[in-house]
Amino acid sequence: MIEREKIEEITRQTDIAALIGQYIPLKKVGKNYRALCPFHSEREPSFYVSPDKGIYYCFGCKKGGNAISFLMEYEKLDFPTAVKKLAKELGIEIDTTKNLKYKELYDVNELATQFYTLCLSKELGRRGRHYLKERRVDVQKLKEFKIGYAPASGGLVTYMRQKGVALERLRKAGLISAEREVFRERIMFPILSVSGRVVGFGGRGIDEHIKPKYLNSPETPIFKKGNVLYGLYQSKQGMRTKNEAMLVEGYFDLLSVFQYGIENVCAPLGTALTENQAALISRFARRVNILFDGDVSGIKAALRAIGLLINAQVDVFVTVLPQGSDPDTYVHEYGVEDLKQKLSAAEDFFHFYKKVVSTDTVEQEVVLIKDLIKIINNIRDPIRFDRYLKYAAHVFDISAETIKREMSATRTVATKPQTRLEITPEEKLMGMILNAREHFPLVKNILKPHDFTEDGLRRLYKIMLKEQDFDIADVADSTGEVLKEKLLSIIMKEAPISRQALLEALVRYKSGIETKKIEAKIREAREKGDDKAWSQYQKKLNDLKKQMLKINWDNVGASSGL
Ligand code: CTP
Ligand code: MN
Repeated sequence: MIEREKIEEITRQTDIAALIGQYIPLKKVGKNYRALCPFHSEREPSFYVSPDKGIYYCFGCKKGGNAISFLMEYEKLDFPTAVKKLAKELGIEIDTTKNLKYKELYDVNELATQFYTLCLSKELGRRGRHYLKERRVDVQKLKEFKIGYAPASGGLVTYMRQKGVALERLRKAGLISAEREVFRERIMFPILSVSGRVVGFGGRGIDEHIKPKYLNSPETPIFKKGNVLYGLYQSKQGMRTKNEAMLVEGYFDLLSVFQYGIENVCAPLGTALTENQAALISRFARRVNILFDGDVSGIKAALRAIGLLINAQVDVFVTVLPQGSDPDTYVHEYGVEDLKQKLSAAEDFFHFYKKVVSTDTVEQEVVLIKDLIKIINNIRDPIRFDRYLKYAAHVFDISAETIKREMSATRTVATKPQTRLEITPEEKLMGMILNAREHFPLVKNILKPHDFTEDGLRRLYKIMLKEQDFDIADVADSTGEVLKEKLLSIIMKEAPISRQALLEALVRYKSGIETKKIEAKIREAREKGDDKAWSQYQKKLNDLKKQMLKINWDNVGASSGL
């Protein structure tokens, strides 16, 4: 657990516009910033960032929150990781028990990496070295990959014991199972996180009788297969400078092309590309060149990856290798210059898709067209979108209008129905209060929790009364999703109001409540036929109305006897 005060300090100190500006281009509009929403597909910007209030909000998809929730959403981080990331940038120290638990796992993996690389370099690793030589892997050139070898005889447990590491920790890291070392007779590929820490391992059996051919560490708190990419750490600089990433399927594919100087390549870990991995790539490159095997499964995987990558808003190209070769075999057989040539002649995803999907029947063609339209519909860059739209219209000889109609049809199915958020007067008032933090002491004097009739607002107001230094987005979190959306939208929309205007709103609100109460009493009295009570309440109501009319709004703050 990270202390609440720490978290508040961190969100307060973070410049949310600068933070979000690192991920998406922001345009200044008045006091706020505007952008195309990174969380849903749109072509007109409805995503706003308010540096003053420390929040962001999208009027389109209703996502909103503070710096922490942005990082969680955008980078797919869990809460503590997002907080730590911000803390690190601000130079704020936080240490948590959970942190320590992760650290234990990182440390074990680091030591295991040492052990496996040591083995590869020693007599024990002769067979491993031989295997790598056969496969023409140049370990010297690939030093940063820390390739190692897990000998048939094991030895990790003994090594760890010497280092004082308990067996339990090896188990937690997935390195032993039922007292046995998991990796044996395997070339070991440490899998590094984006920040360069070993989170898990992949191991290739050095002999065809070793099953399975590839073995990965099981998932642990620090290792989620769908969230990491092999080679990303070593390639991210190259990806940034070239603004392009190569995507291959396997460990050896990656190492082979990397060792020949293609240093902007990454690979999923033997599973189909995930949404998170696509998002990860998009942080480092605008363009992805998919280089998968030229067989059926390679093509299928490429088709799947295309949709995910387009969703992550990168330009997608595909390089097709001849049937039967993968990047590893290809580069060794034909040389890197030949491969580079092929890579630079990559087809854009549209051509590739059209070429590999069979359209022998009209039905198949319709499916293809619909699939492609769906993909194009996710392109957020208006120019690229328009190009592909026109292109599709031309290629399939369909009018752009028809395509657009198809798009809006699929869109309504795909996205959740856009319910208009009805904002009640008391929600609006709460929004005003949140927007005028500096006048909160005044609000406290006038408004009591029971003045709110909505549960969420009452709860929220109680928290606000208790906590001096509340964070808008954070507090809004305690109200439930719908109310939070509404409040953020009010906070973002409303201009900051003056003390005067706030007071006026408060008084009107309070008298509104009072009026309703009296009116209810009047109804009650009439139903009962209680004439005395009826005239009493009627008078009360009239007094209240007169009182309201008499209020000198220019002077209400000073004379507030409320
Ligand atoms: N893979 C896996 N388990 C398997 C086979 C493959 O996890 N049984 C993963 C590995 O990450 C591998 C990738 O899928 O690198 C691609 O698999 P494949 O094309 O079958 O293997 P290659 O990379 O060509 O492996 P090799 O050249 O070593 O045979
Ligand atoms: Mn291969």
